Amino acid sequence: MTNSINTVTSQTLSSDVLESYRSRGYVRIPSVLSVDEVAQCLADAQEQLERHEKLSWDTPGEGNVMDWIAEPEAKSAVMRRLALHPGITGIAERLAGRPLRMFKSELLRKRTTGGTRTPLHIDAPAFPIAGSASTLTAWVALVDVPVERGCLTFIPGSHELPQREDAWFIDPFDAHPELRWWPQVTVPLRAGDCTFHDARLVHSAGANETETARISLATVYMDAAATYNPAPAGAEPTYQDEVPGIEPGQPFDTDRYPLIGATG
Ligand code: NI
Repeated sequence: MTNSINTVTSQTLSSDVLESYRSRGYVRIPSVLSVDEVAQCLADAQEQLERHEKLSWDTPGEGNVMDWIAEPEAKSAVMRRLALHPGITGIAERLAGRPLRMFKSELLRKRTTGGTRTPLHIDAPAFPIAGSASTLTAWVALVDVPVERGCLTFIPGSHELPQREDAWFIDPFDAHPELRWWPQVTVPLRAGDCTFHDARLVHSAGANETETARISLATVYMDAAATYNPAPAGAEPTYQDEVPGIEPGQPFDTDRYPLIGATG
């Protein structure tokens, strides 16, 4: 269970990496998981994907964007450990610069056939969260994810653009036409590598053109003091808006939304 000596941890994360995350809106951290952890998590993930009901994102006429299992951390101890992994959550809190709690985790699969790309989008408008300046996603690769397997592509700096109320419904290029001319960075990952991205960052992913499913765990962390903000009137409610036991305007102060890292 040893990581390589060069592995970045929350203790060794440099100010350059912090600065890069803040200005670009994402960072790639290699080898957050050991080889043994990857093997254990992948076996558990494959079992969950086999056994449990999956949600599906399909683009009409183009195919399946991805399938995923909601709340995998409630379905196995292995996935709970991964969603609350001290190495990952410690880095997340350093990047955020404040205490965080987990909002949700999703076990993602991009299929090998009949799939399509993940369109450009930002995550934040889909989250029923208010008062969280630092919402971010840790995206951990459980298989190697080269470009042709549908890795993520980010538009660095786009997290600092003003957020529109209708951001969830419109193409980011329509919301901010100048974005078409900003550089995009495509970030392949080895199994066990992780990217962290700000919930306001514009990103996309390619289609999986390989014979191996792209399997990853995406866990969203939010400010510890964030409050529940139900979907705005007129928005299509999604399963993400089901926030049991919490009244609008109240903090996510239940076991389902645990504090993480140093504060957990
Ligand atoms: Ni996203």
